[in-house]
Amino acid sequence: MPVRVIVGCQWGDEGKGKVVDYFSEDADVVVRFQGGANAGHTVITESGDFVLHLLPSGILRAEKKCVIADGIVIDPEQLIKEIIFLRDMGVSVKGRLFISGKAHLVFPYHKYYDKYLEKLRKGKAIGTTGRGIGPAYTDRVARCGIRAYDLFDEELLKAKLDDNLKLKRSLSPDLNQVEEFGLKYNFDWINRFKEGMMDFIKDTSKILQNALVSGDSVLFEGAQGMMLDVDYGTYPYTTSSNTVSGGIPVNCGLAPFIPDETIGIVKAYTTRVGEGPFPTELNDEMGDILRKRGREFGATTGRPRRCGWLDFVALKYALKINGVNSIAMTKIDVLDGIERILICDGYRYKGKLIREFPNNINIIEECKPHYIEVSGWESETSSLLEFEDLPQNAKEYIDIIENTLEVPVSHISTGPFRHQMIKKCK
Ligand code: GDP
Ligand code: IMO
Ligand code: MG
Repeated sequence: MPVRVIVGCQWGDEGKGKVVDYFSEDADVVVRFQGGANAGHTVITESGDFVLHLLPSGILRAEKKCVIADGIVIDPEQLIKEIIFLRDMGVSVKGRLFISGKAHLVFPYHKYYDKYLEKLRKGKAIGTTGRGIGPAYTDRVARCGIRAYDLFDEELLKAKLDDNLKLKRSLSPDLNQVEEFGLKYNFDWINRFKEGMMDFIKDTSKILQNALVSGDSVLFEGAQGMMLDVDYGTYPYTTSSNTVSGGIPVNCGLAPFIPDETIGIVKAYTTRVGEGPFPTELNDEMGDILRKRGREFGATTGRPRRCGWLDFVALKYALKINGVNSIAMTKIDVLDGIERILICDGYRYKGKLIREFPNNINIIEECKPHYIEVSGWESETSSLLEFEDLPQNAKEYIDIIENTLEVPVSHISTGPFRHQMIKKCK
């Protein structure tokens, strides 16, 4: 498969790490194209458990090339931590990791400012990961960001940092005394990590253009999820990048293209971390059951994830915007033994039943889910390898999903391990 895109179709944590690792086996290049260390992608291999924040999930397969593209905001400290962790686990990234020089860098002042803004928002906090993502993307569009290429010119780097910090301190004088807003602090900090990064910095746009021309198999790995997209998600309760597949060309320095396959990852139920509307959220015992069985605690922040039933209204919207032509359904095993499973097929809003995802957040916040009920299944799915062997009601659950969303479910993940994947014939 020359060009494959894999994106999350809910509010993140759908199991992208596991699914990307699975499909990396037949990729030559794996690319992260947006977001930063707010992502937490879990991959479990024979060598251990890995939570990747910045490195593409393909990095765990020794021969794969991996690209951190132009559209990423890189926290150098986190990047080096991840490279060292992998090295200690016996995984070398040398000669196969390529980092865009155009990617922006996340500094201590971004992370501080992220948390500072959250405090100022008081009751209206977004519930960010505190990884400096919003402030780093803000600097990018405000044209005062620092890019990976700037690491090659120490004087310029220092001058840019100085200008930037002065400007920020003059806008918020209470930051004057904050260590993270000092020039020396940030300059010393970046000097601890830059050597470890510089060898990897390349023109990744050219690398990817060449890969596509030579027919290499390229896999684009989304981070976050469709509903967290800065434009098309539940704004302003979103992240600060375009998580949709349409963001790939612009964030990778590529001309627009149609992928050979766009896989949308859909968890068998829904989760969300942070604030913002979530129509099918369960604030009851069933929510607790899903959280406990699905081990729904953030891979980046450890926060408990909010849990709820599957939401067809949001999913239909997500699949269309991303051009998803195949669904990888994850965590079906978490539903084993649940007697009654609900699926939201519409929203009730001011007495009306609506089936289109509203554009207006004020409306979404008032929507109440309208459910259909399906029977669950008793037996365990986690050891099954064939679709035919799934319990009848699990097959029916998948049938309803395919028929309603009008997209085939091509893969079903039944557990966190590599081999726990059912390939369903289309
Ligand atoms: P990502 O951000 O989309 O990569 O997802 P996370 O890694 O943050 O969260 C998904 C969690 O579910 C991880 O702990 C995975 O190991 C785990 N996981 C992935 N697929 C499955 C599955 O099919 N069943 C179960 N039980 N766990 C899974
Ligand atoms: P992966 O790739 C789930 C959420 C945060 C918050 C909002 C904004 O692992 O699926 P940010 O730090 O980006 O400014 O936070 O976005 N968020 C995620 N939720 N999974 C993620 O990544 C997320 N990355 C950001 O919780 O609600
Ligand atoms: Mg995650």
